[in-house]
Amino acid sequence: MTKSTETTYDLVVFGATSFVGQILTQYLFDSCGVAGEVTWAIAGRSESKLAELKSGLGANASELPIILADATDDDALKTMCEQTRVVISTVGPYALYGEPLVKACVETGTDYCDLTGEVQWIRRMVDRYEDQAKKSGARIVHCCGFDSIPSDMGVWFLQQQAEKTFGEPCLDVRMRVKVAKGGLSGGTVASMMNIAKEAAADPKLRKELANPFSICPPEHRSTVRQPSLKGAEFDKTFNVWLAPFVMSSINTRVVHRSNAMQSARYGKEFTYDEAMMTGTGTKGRLTAYGITAALAGFFTASAIKPSRWLVERFVPQPGEGPTPEAQKAGFYDLRFVGRTQDGKTMITKVTGDADPGYGSTSKMLGEAGMCLAFDIPADQAGGFWTPASVLNDKLLERLTSKAGLTFEVVETR
Ligand SMILES: NC(=O)c1ccc[n+]([C@@H]2O[C@H](COP(=O)([O-])OP(=O)(O)OC[C@H]3O[C@@H](n4cnc5c(N)ncnc54)[C@H](OP(=O)(O)O)[C@@H]3O)[C@@H](O)[C@H]2O)c1
Repeated sequence: MTKSTETTYDLVVFGATSFVGQILTQYLFDSCGVAGEVTWAIAGRSESKLAELKSGLGANASELPIILADATDDDALKTMCEQTRVVISTVGPYALYGEPLVKACVETGTDYCDLTGEVQWIRRMVDRYEDQAKKSGARIVHCCGFDSIPSDMGVWFLQQQAEKTFGEPCLDVRMRVKVAKGGLSGGTVASMMNIAKEAAADPKLRKELANPFSICPPEHRSTVRQPSLKGAEFDKTFNVWLAPFVMSSINTRVVHRSNAMQSARYGKEFTYDEAMMTGTGTKGRLTAYGITAALAGFFTASAIKPSRWLVERFVPQPGEGPTPEAQKAGFYDLRFVGRTQDGKTMITKVTGDADPGYGSTSKMLGEAGMCLAFDIPADQAGGFWTPASVLNDKLLERLTSKAGLTFEVVETR
């Protein structure tokens, strides 16, 4: 049963006071205004913070409604969900605060999207709530930020082009980060540290996190070995050095779930990996080794108590993140190399016009929410979807026309 469209709001931004939520709220205010065609509200636990946020948005912002709800208050969350068709949540780390809201959305048949990159939490949510979401009609879409929309939609776009050009999808796809310029926020660091902490305490979870199919339905757990860069390596396609890419552990999982949710459209033996280009020559090589060591150091230090406090002293705290100037100066450029079974090759490019984690992420999340509210068919089944498997061409259109992303084919051979 799909939820009635007779709700007060099209969208509610829950966690509007978060670092990323504030940028998202400004983006929605600038693009939709208040009391216009799109009806929306901001929500969170602190009335004074929400009022302060509202006062800085611009003319007429005083009419923007506020909903008060704590992430632990089941009744308040349910009341919030009953008033809207879509909830966009930026209250994280999601593994700590996110479950009651997912539960409320699933119970009320409310569509939902968020910015989580926490694989272990997504697995838990799917296991606990997927059956109920299918019954209530709630479309739940995690990972609607830099992780994992550019990767997920980038692969979807490449496969669509490959089907058009070669008549078949690419069986192997490699994503290479050419440029990603931008900073980290306290919320993201807190989420990454929480994953490291949970994994250190639970060997079963470590095994699950290492599985490329960890968020796929059980019947889609392919035995095909997935490539995964563990250290510095030279890439012959682009003639550059590569280092592991920190977001690959979530992005690869989302791309495989998208494949599963589209009845293995990319192939049952599809392989996918991600890495970061670090340049040519000795400098590129040393940077690749440096990034590998820094990543290992961060996760090891975050996992154990004695060193975790030290990491916490030097990273951004919750509520902190890159300045507006740094967000504007940021951008990213990702390359996808796809090969069909018989060796036909396609290279595509995805770019974003702001820093990946905040400026661009807030626009992608906002458009994912709008897409859920306005673009997908009312009879689209409920369940735990991915951006590519449920929002696909409609989201691509929004990302390119409104959110500053580009998708293009660079080369076919
Ligand atoms: N996927 C991506 O590309 C991407 C990019 C950026 C961020 N993220 C994720 O997005 C999330 C937010 O990041 P951020 O840096 O913006 O976080 P943040 O600034 O630390 O904000 C956290 C938010 O959670 C709210 N909150 C905490 N406990 C709550 C409770 N009990 N009830 C209601 N609200 C509560 C806070 O409300 P108060 O303001 O009232 O304290 C605040 O609005 C993180 O999980 C981060 O990992 C993902």
